[in-house]
Amino acid sequence: MNPALYARGNPHEVWRAMREAGPVHHQVARTGAEHWAVVGYDAGRQVMHDWKVFTSTRGALLREDDNSAPYPGAGKMPVLTDPSRHTELRRAVAQLFTPRAVEKLGALAGEVAGSLLAELRARGGGDFVTDVAARFPLAVQAEILGIPPEDIPVIMEATGRSVDEADHGASGHHDVMTYFLKALGTRRGEAGRDLVGTLLAARAGGLPLSDEEIVLTCDNIVVAASQTVQHALNGGLLALLEHPAAWSALREGRVGVDSAIDELLRWTAPATHVMRTAVRDTELAGTPIRAGDAVAVWIPSANRDAAAFADPDTLVLDRAPNAHLSLGAGMHFCLGSALVRVLLRALLTDLISADTSLALAGPPVWQSTWAVNGMRSLPVTVVPA
Ligand code: HEM
Repeated sequence: MNPALYARGNPHEVWRAMREAGPVHHQVARTGAEHWAVVGYDAGRQVMHDWKVFTSTRGALLREDDNSAPYPGAGKMPVLTDPSRHTELRRAVAQLFTPRAVEKLGALAGEVAGSLLAELRARGGGDFVTDVAARFPLAVQAEILGIPPEDIPVIMEATGRSVDEADHGASGHHDVMTYFLKALGTRRGEAGRDLVGTLLAARAGGLPLSDEEIVLTCDNIVVAASQTVQHALNGGLLALLEHPAAWSALREGRVGVDSAIDELLRWTAPATHVMRTAVRDTELAGTPIRAGDAVAVWIPSANRDAAAFADPDTLVLDRAPNAHLSLGAGMHFCLGSALVRVLLRALLTDLISADTSLALAGPPVWQSTWAVNGMRSLPVTVVPA
């Protein structure tokens, strides 16, 4: 949990050394907060699947000060609930994100990707992060999320702040929630097929959701929808530009886009960890864990565990099988997983079929956080294909 370790991207050499010593390690942050770091694949999967032992209701992300303090929003949004409330909350919004529902966004995603990339090409290059990746996810998803076009910049800015470690993203989450609280005031009683309308109409256990649950669920989904996708795009493009043979294979159709998407997700792992809290004394890969202990699965490490992936440090775009943990596993498996594929496919398809290609025009600037593997800047220039 030292941000400096992430200044040049993920600290894979640290995780490799940890995995070689064992799958589970006790960690103490500089501030004194403790957790069990799960760096192995099997143990990571076990934590994600076994909600009866590892609850999400005490937080799903590590904190620097005290992992056992009450977690804001706990028990009231999908990612911070266990069954049966989790099942009810997830069911309330799942219809918006089924593969069938999001496939309809494919054409719009193609148009948005096309116009953002055309602008970048017309300028001869630019910053892929700010010019393309940061703008793309919300532009495609705004309608489904119930955000009118004029409000997109406000939400984009607030979700950006929500992953800031300085104040645990409090000010960003606050602004996203205030926005949706206001929307509830004007939208109540009005039918709607977007996120807010669906949550207002939802019944869980026969009762409407509380305003607090609705606003927190909007925050959960809108932050997830805007932040992680852009980092998959940035990291995915960087991986392709750094691996010219893989990039050519993709452009020439020798490997399929869908398997490439999974390998780029394994490789980039935009969500760096998920946290759980043990509800009783237990054992994880032979390590005793006590009730109340925080346990974090370090996803990029699990994704490079040689026990689960052949040649894990090589980018293999047609890797099969590829059961990476980048979208989680078990009941909290990413609700937006089908949408992620629609978005990545649209952008990759445009890059692949273009007459020109992109090349790095300078080093990437990493966000240097231990919660999200992302970049602040990725300078690119347009080059002949
Ligand atoms: C590449 C992009 C994405 C990545 C890497 C990602 C990653 C993840 C991960 C690791 C989890 C599991 C959290 C846990 O177990 O505690 C998760 C859950 C979730 N994701 Fe995503 N996500 C992405 C995109 C999206 C999008 C576009 C949406 C929009 C709908 C979304 C909505 C959610 C929600 C609502 C949950 C909580 C589900 C639950 O608790 O049942 N994600 N995501």
